[in-house]
Amino acid sequence: MTDVLSKNQAHFNEIAVKYDQQFAAAIAQLETQIQAKLDFIGVKQRSRFLDYACGTGMLSRVLAKNVKESIGIDVTENMVKAYNAQAQNEDTSSSRSAFLGNLGDPSDSAPSAFSDAKFFDFDIAGVGLAWHHFDDCGSVAKRLADRLKPGGVLFIVDFSSHEMDAEHASSHGITHHGFSKDQIKSIFEEAGVGRDFAFEELPKPIEFNTIQSGNEGGHGHDHDHGHGHGHHHHHGQDHRHEHEKAPGKAQVKRVFIARGSKL
Ligand SMILES: C[S@@+](CC[C@H](N)C(=O)[O-])C[C@H]1O[C@@H](n2cnc3c(N)ncnc32)[C@H](O)[C@@H]1O
Repeated sequence: MTDVLSKNQAHFNEIAVKYDQQFAAAIAQLETQIQAKLDFIGVKQRSRFLDYACGTGMLSRVLAKNVKESIGIDVTENMVKAYNAQAQNEDTSSSRSAFLGNLGDPSDSAPSAFSDAKFFDFDIAGVGLAWHHFDDCGSVAKRLADRLKPGGVLFIVDFSSHEMDAEHASSHGITHHGFSKDQIKSIFEEAGVGRDFAFEELPKPIEFNTIQSGNEGGHGHDHDHGHGHGHHHHHGQDHRHEHEKAPGKAQVKRVFIARGSKL
């Protein structure tokens, strides 16, 4: 297991139960804006949806009225539990369930946990606000493409490139600050999902709260939208510790949606 992966698991296991509440305002804005882009993404009625790095299920909720089935996969046990608890409580006509695991491990391109037929032949695969957490984005894109039907759609929602604080970047080993259209396009093309590629920023930037994690009453850390720990530093989030910045300061981020179809 990579260091990035285990840090992600530790961090998201810790914040899973408070995630939806903490980020309620940002999630609500995202859900509304993504909902307005379902035609742009190419979501068709009665389709099967793979929600990768599903967390508590934001994308599955947005697509619920359009798809007949959503399957979530996430590396964090408590996120999978939160997704499934919510799915059970909601009265929707589509079925929704999440499973623990990792499709992005470059050393295991066909994990046995996901060999069942239900984990293949999706019409749509989506990744919400998790692309910048992946060790190897190209490998995840390929593995998701494998799971799509021919003509199926991969879409991702993540942060646009933002300005670089060189000093902060070098001290934190940051190599990417969000993603540009060209970066995403070449990842999609290499994965075989570059047909009809399109990339659009959401009209309104999203404001993310910070979240407190760490030992209670001790030295906590502020994280914006739970992105503080365990990712690959592709995006230049503000990683300063609590003593370095004002607690509770919101971060405003531009968010894009990219989509492409399997060749
Ligand atoms: C910021 S949350 C976003 C969750 C959800 N997609 C949403 O839009 O609200 C990032 C999620 O990515 C998951 N994650 C991180 N690395 C992963 C990987 N390599 N494979 C699968 N899930 C991963 C984390 O466990 C976490 O649930």
